[in-house]
Amino acid sequence: MASTYAGALVAVRDVESLRRRIQAWRREGRSVALVPTMGALHKGHMTLMDRAQKMADRVVATIFVNPKQFGPKEDFTAYPRREHDDFEMLNTGGVHLLFAPDVAAMYPNGFATGVSVAGISEQLDGAHRPGHFDGVATVVTKLLLQVLPDIALFGEKDYQQLMVIRRLVSDLNIPVDIIGVPTVRETDGLAMSSRNAYLTPEERAQAPALYKIITTAAAAIAAGGDIAQATMAARADLLAAGFASVDYVEVRHGETLAPLTVRVTPARLLAAAHMGRTRLIDNVAI
Ligand code: PAF
Repeated sequence: MASTYAGALVAVRDVESLRRRIQAWRREGRSVALVPTMGALHKGHMTLMDRAQKMADRVVATIFVNPKQFGPKEDFTAYPRREHDDFEMLNTGGVHLLFAPDVAAMYPNGFATGVSVAGISEQLDGAHRPGHFDGVATVVTKLLLQVLPDIALFGEKDYQQLMVIRRLVSDLNIPVDIIGVPTVRETDGLAMSSRNAYLTPEERAQAPALYKIITTAAAAIAAGGDIAQATMAARADLLAAGFASVDYVEVRHGETLAPLTVRVTPARLLAAAHMGRTRLIDNVAI
């Protein structure tokens, strides 16, 4: 199925139509960028689209709320779905092709294959969301093989996801450049995320504390402060700022995500904490 709306953007829902359009571009010698998303698009996503347009002749966005990356008690059903608004944003943003498959097209009956990236997937978010990165790795591998882009862009907001994807692309020799794009923030510092829509007005007012607290901790470590002390203080500050619980505040190697007790370059401070029923994650370079 292919449908054309107001602008130049074309939407397809099956792999055959997707491939046909991309092959036509390839015959014209065009380069292709892929921006995978789960929809409910915001300015952060559109920054990825803008960057993709600067780096390639044609941009393919995907919208697929991937059931395999949600745990049984997570928000798969509640996850915001706004396909019409998303289409308008992509169309206005000059994206060329939208691939929006349904679950049956992505995982037909009998689907039996999974991609699992050992080690790097099992810590931080992986420890708190078992199976999450297997779901991400499986769907991203499929999307990369369906589109076969020259480049694929992902936000640094999901920093561990970006490192997992870099690892799988390298391990499986998938011929694509993975581009990490810095986190886009609201004016008060809160990292843009589709899940921010879950926050009540009161929680929304408290949520920017996450960025402020990890920025302060990162600055203390950069100035020579002790990592264990700075991360412990950040945990306490998060609870004092209204977060119900803290999953982790950790300093890790910026590429391997190996735990660090002394600062090296590159290093990254990553945190996850619960504001009401919303789990927020963020990270900053040290
Ligand atoms: O970051 C996301 O939105 C998702 O994890 C991704 C990369 C689109 C895979 O479903």
